[in-house]
Amino acid sequence: MKDASPAAPLEIFLSDYTPPAYLVDTVELTFKLHPTATRVLSRIAFRPNPDTADRTFYLHGEQLKLISATIDGQDANAKVTDLGLTAIAPDAPFIFEAEVEISPSTNTALEGLYMSNGMYCTQCEAEGFRKITYYPDRPDVMAVFSVTIEGEETVKLSNGNDLGDGKWHDPWPKPAYLFALVAGDLVNHPDTFTTMSGKEVELNIWVRPGDLNKCAFGMDALKRSMAWDEKVYGREYDLDLFNIVAVDDFNMGAMENKGLNIFNSSAVLASPETSTDANFERIEAIIAHEYFHNWTGNRITCRDWFQLCLKEGLTVYRDSQFTSDERSPAVKRIEDVIALRARQFREDNGPLAHPVRPTSFVEINNFYTATVYEKGAEVIGMLKTLIGDDAYYKGCDLYFTRHDGQACTIEDWLACFEEVTGRDLAQFKLWYTQAGTPRVSVKEAWKDGTYTLTFTQHTPPTPGQDVKDPKVIPIAVGLLNEAGEEIQATRICEVTDDVHAFRFTGLDALPIASINRGFSAPIILQQDQDNLTRAFLLANDTDPFNKWEAGRALARDVMIRMVTEDAAPDQAYLDALLAVARDDTLDPAFKALVFSLPSGDDIAQALFDGGVTPDPTKIYLTAQTLSQSIAQAMQDTLPRIYAQMQVDGPFSPDADAAGKRAWGNVALSLLTRLDGGAQARTQFEGADNMTQQLSALGALLRAEVGEDASKAFYAQWKEDRLVIDKWFAMQVSFAKLDAAPAVAEALTAHPDFTLTNPNRFRAVFGALAGNTAGFHSPDGSGYALLADWLIKLDAKNPQTAARMSTAFETWTRYDADRQGMMRDALERIKAAPNLSGDLSEMVTRILNA
Ligand code: PHE
Ligand code: ZN
Repeated sequence: MKDASPAAPLEIFLSDYTPPAYLVDTVELTFKLHPTATRVLSRIAFRPNPDTADRTFYLHGEQLKLISATIDGQDANAKVTDLGLTAIAPDAPFIFEAEVEISPSTNTALEGLYMSNGMYCTQCEAEGFRKITYYPDRPDVMAVFSVTIEGEETVKLSNGNDLGDGKWHDPWPKPAYLFALVAGDLVNHPDTFTTMSGKEVELNIWVRPGDLNKCAFGMDALKRSMAWDEKVYGREYDLDLFNIVAVDDFNMGAMENKGLNIFNSSAVLASPETSTDANFERIEAIIAHEYFHNWTGNRITCRDWFQLCLKEGLTVYRDSQFTSDERSPAVKRIEDVIALRARQFREDNGPLAHPVRPTSFVEINNFYTATVYEKGAEVIGMLKTLIGDDAYYKGCDLYFTRHDGQACTIEDWLACFEEVTGRDLAQFKLWYTQAGTPRVSVKEAWKDGTYTLTFTQHTPPTPGQDVKDPKVIPIAVGLLNEAGEEIQATRICEVTDDVHAFRFTGLDALPIASINRGFSAPIILQQDQDNLTRAFLLANDTDPFNKWEAGRALARDVMIRMVTEDAAPDQAYLDALLAVARDDTLDPAFKALVFSLPSGDDIAQALFDGGVTPDPTKIYLTAQTLSQSIAQAMQDTLPRIYAQMQVDGPFSPDADAAGKRAWGNVALSLLTRLDGGAQARTQFEGADNMTQQLSALGALLRAEVGEDASKAFYAQWKEDRLVIDKWFAMQVSFAKLDAAPAVAEALTAHPDFTLTNPNRFRAVFGALAGNTAGFHSPDGSGYALLADWLIKLDAKNPQTAARMSTAFETWTRYDADRQGMMRDALERIKAAPNLSGDLSEMVTRILNA
């Protein structure tokens, strides 16, 4: 029986959670692989769940052709709809068997079993397993899987232990979203790791034959991750085998399937010639992230998808700790905060704002957001700050022992920390349940040797949450004297009320405060700070994050005054930059970060917050003018910096070498504003690594003298998909003023442009969305172009189309003309025939701003 009506968008609520009627002990799956007619045979041992009286037997299943279904060997008389299967089941253990047919080669959504470059692979998180066979596809149903893969492919992989002949057994019970299968003619980069208890684990990175020379760095990162998780969290790997596979067509970065991580090839393949320093750092972080999920996600998983931050926020936090330890903590923190503001603050301040733990969703794929991931990680960081390192690791240990093998909630997690500290975390939990970025204003007072800081917190309304309660906000504060000496070491002010004052006593003179050091809380700090104080802190703060933050606040203020008052570039700012450039005690990577100006989107947000309608064109021109002034002010120093930052010898992606290249390339890009591209051309032609080659290309493109270099770059790299992605992105990113839409449109006609590869689509349209002046081109061409292509992409790949629609999430910031054009673009998407539930939910939420 087929349900005639199309699947209506159903809103699902956290408060409606009920336990599963039946649990699964074991699953046996047999795959008879065929591009258009793969047969999947399942044998599932069910038993009634003793925790509920519900005996509804319902299995999820979508886009499956049911061949047969039996219960204990008898026809199950299954009723089938577009979303699943029901049958009458016994109130006792039973065996369900089914055979279904699916078509991997026509699966362009890249969810379930699909094909990428002739290889079979799967993506099941969050709800993709139901496109493979009928199953209770929910994370609180955990089972032991055995898999048989039949096919001609030379390599056939699944989770757990390799029994030979395409047979696999995973001894650890897991939810279906962690199932994985890969089959193809792949080759491996092998290695081994000996765990803390002396067990030898076989490691492999599986790739297409041409990519074997790009595996060594990923393998090294994996081994360092395994050692780090033992050392810092006491977590040991729990199988004899760990496989990673690189796949070209993948919607996200990577996936933590048990014992068989599947990676977007951009998130694992690395070589000096083809990968930038930023690529190396990202690859290392993603390898660590997926590996760390083995404990935070796999051994302990989520009860339901509302708890997604339980695994993602925690695992992002863990991978950021790893990167800090392996590289520079200051640089990592600054990079994370730049990304947090660009993606999460932007989300929190717009129509898509939602709590770290959402309370409802239509399509869970739309909640793999910066809020769940990055704000989720910030919340863990604040917990650690509030309770201290010892209690944090004690609480984690308790969580691991108490909940191993379980599907858990945020309440389970917090209870572990309440127990080890005796502290009530009810107010802290608001960070999980309340959306929006708190604004914290601070006033200072000085009397008789006592310095008082009074904080006032306020969180603006967000969709569905008009009123906010005060949160507990850990604000790290240090005090300096006028000589730049630290007179009060960092102290945590725990702001718990709407208005909360903290006193610092016994001081000789009015101090200079350094507030929210290390970005101890993800807030917008509103501080009446003059630019002299900012320049002082940029020169003297002992906290590296706040040192950078002072420079950033200065830059923002300078740019805003240039935009709103037509002010000239501020000399005090230029002097402060020069002082940073000359300070030999500073890490080059840090200098590069001080010199990176706030993005167009940052300035637009800041203007909007200050009640000014942002004009992207003007912001763009301001950034150009300011950069030109910086270049001129530094004219004499730039060649020396450039020369000093050249790194000789064989390429190494380590933090020191990368930092030197980053600072050297800041100098190059400034030099290019003065020398017409001479130095950049020399660097482009002589480069033996992608960081140097791409930086030079960028500098040339920005100076509008990059056409020849761009052609040469394409000719050199046309066989390398990942490098050609960069080539697509660069042209759009560096397009002048409002030229980006035309450049992007021309690129969509290039023979290498395709809708089937998400990386390629993101290269062009992610770059368009990130080019603020171009995307917001006054004629609306950026909006129209993106809308056209989102509609086209949606027909093939709803998940990626939905994610890319967030380009429109800031639409209410802009002037009436732009708002009207963006609304039209969104309405046009909404009205497109056969729009997916994914994209429809997103445009509906964005339009409801
Ligand atoms: N769970 C993956 C991660 O660690 C992300 C992901 C989600 C991948 C959904 C694919 C699909 O971050
Ligand atoms: Zn993750």
